[in-house]
Amino acid sequence: MKRSYLYFLWAAIFFSACTSNTFDDISEPMEVLPDEENVTFEDVRFVFENVCQVCHSNPPQNGAPMPLVSYDDVRDAVLDRGLLDRISREEGAPGLMPLGGPRLPQETIDLIMQWNADGLPEN
Ligand code: HEC
Repeated sequence: MKRSYLYFLWAAIFFSACTSNTFDDISEPMEVLPDEENVTFEDVRFVFENVCQVCHSNPPQNGAPMPLVSYDDVRDAVLDRGLLDRISREEGAPGLMPLGGPRLPQETIDLIMQWNADGLPEN
């Protein structure tokens, strides 16, 4: 009786270790599963790092009025500075960000919109 209990315990630990390894293998860091997981700042920060921080660095360059570096910077710009409007204007429209274009790919804009819809979580 004692022995089969230990075997069961061992099997349970072994099996759960396998399960979590398998899960790690299939879950990519950048994978977005909008129905199951919120989009977080970690999923969208690459846009600000790669595109916006040419000007919206800290301190900002080229006449940009604020940095878009930290989570707070970006969240405040969404809430108070019309960031979503600025990135969704038409190609060539005045005030479109990134300044001077080109407009972000639509799927990138959609990802940022989904982050907003999910409540702008940090991680
Ligand atoms: C080439 C430099 C440059 C780049 C790149 C750039 N911006 Fe800007 N941004 C500016 C300048 C200059 C202003 C101020 C003029 C204006 O409001 O249009 C500004 C203004 C803004 C504003 C309005 C701020 C306010 O208080 O009214 C937002 C929001 C913004 N940028 C977001 C972004 C985002 C998001 C990106 C990246 C997708 C980006 N910008 C890329 C230069 C830039």
